[in-house]
Amino acid sequence: MNILILGNGAREHSLAWAVKQNPKCSRLLVAPGNAGIADIADISTINIENCDEVVKLATQEKIDFVIIGPEAPLAAGVSDELKNKGFLVFGPSKAAAQLEISKSFMKDVCTKMNIPTAKYSKFNDLVSAKKYVSKEGVPIVIKADGLAAGKGVTVAMDLTTANKALEDFFNSSNHNSDTKVVIEEFMEGEEASFFVLCDGLKILPMGTAQDHKRVGDGDTGPNTGGMGAYSPAPVLTKKIEENVIKEIIEPTLQEMKKRGEPYQGVLYAGLMIKDQQARLVEYNARFGDPECQALMMRLGAQVLDLLLATSTSNLEECKINWADDHALCVVMASNGYPGKIKKGSIIDGLQKLTISSSQMCFHAGTEKESGNIVANGGRVLSLTARGETLTEARSSAYDMVKIIDWEEGFYRTDIGWKAII
Ligand code: AMP
Ligand code: GLY
Repeated sequence: MNILILGNGAREHSLAWAVKQNPKCSRLLVAPGNAGIADIADISTINIENCDEVVKLATQEKIDFVIIGPEAPLAAGVSDELKNKGFLVFGPSKAAAQLEISKSFMKDVCTKMNIPTAKYSKFNDLVSAKKYVSKEGVPIVIKADGLAAGKGVTVAMDLTTANKALEDFFNSSNHNSDTKVVIEEFMEGEEASFFVLCDGLKILPMGTAQDHKRVGDGDTGPNTGGMGAYSPAPVLTKKIEENVIKEIIEPTLQEMKKRGEPYQGVLYAGLMIKDQQARLVEYNARFGDPECQALMMRLGAQVLDLLLATSTSNLEECKINWADDHALCVVMASNGYPGKIKKGSIIDGLQKLTISSSQMCFHAGTEKESGNIVANGGRVLSLTARGETLTEARSSAYDMVKIIDWEEGFYRTDIGWKAII
């Protein structure tokens, strides 16, 4: 099969790495990719949010299967356009991806189906939003109602922060009369990510993971796209998982079907767990990054069969062969991330890493320049390792981190702390 993967993160590098190991994959093309992906796949530098460019590439390269990694092409309708042209695609329709794209859409589905989630209200003017916050008190959570790469959420512990987030939102140049802010009750607990493959008819749970959203050790500082992850997530016990399927996933899929938009792809539920009860924080219409890197290490080549079965509505015949092990991923990011970063710094030490099926270095924001690998984004590398225990996986991942010689980068030193303590 000729396979095309869309995306340029470490998530897509890990997907490409797993897919490539499956004998069904005869040719792998990734757009736009990065310097690490270029070592294992052909690269095309098209704009993956432009439907015409993607369809043209898939046609020219005689692609049999397209895997969409990030949310932006889903929001641009790339999945729909490819399917209209007869391509087999992994990635939900734009309408089904509203579960991620629009926080207010997702909340409406929750209300309709009585799905456990934070109480909320939505506003399109500053005065009413501020009034609501004063009435509800802090802590409170302010969310822009659209895609924001994990950075559109403010968890406000005091009124000044809450009001500033609202002012920034309503005064921003992106704001117009259609954009809304969602204000939510603050939920306490431990967060976990749960992945489910949905083929429009059947579902197949695809594992659990925990991410580290805050930039600093001890979960301090602003939210990021994710600074590290591990899989499985011990907090998500079998019992909680069963309840999540019954109380959250199934009602959501039922409602999507009823709305004429059956969900086909991976559904990623961000959960808050407290006292053995899970509530929904958010949905994503794609794999998590960096959770995907840990999942792919544990799944390997079978991933391609699972994604194909999802896209052809054949999940009923599928079973996942889980290795009884753990994987942990440490993200290295450019100094300044999630704020302003400088591009172009040289990353040394990569050639000293011993790469294997239990130690991988997945690239995100990297490019090749005069023979060097240089950083060109916020999150840059995902050092991911497997181990019989999480402690082993962690020390193996940090062994790799130590080999990287990159002064302009940083990483968290405590990935896995909740599960390991
Ligand atoms: P979201 O983009 O909705 O996942 O939000 C990003 C992060 O903000 C989540 O992973 C949580 O860490 C935090 N967060 C979002 N909503 C809430 C909430 N209602 N209560 C507590 N924390 C939240
Ligand atoms: N790791 C969080 C996300 O992918 O949204």
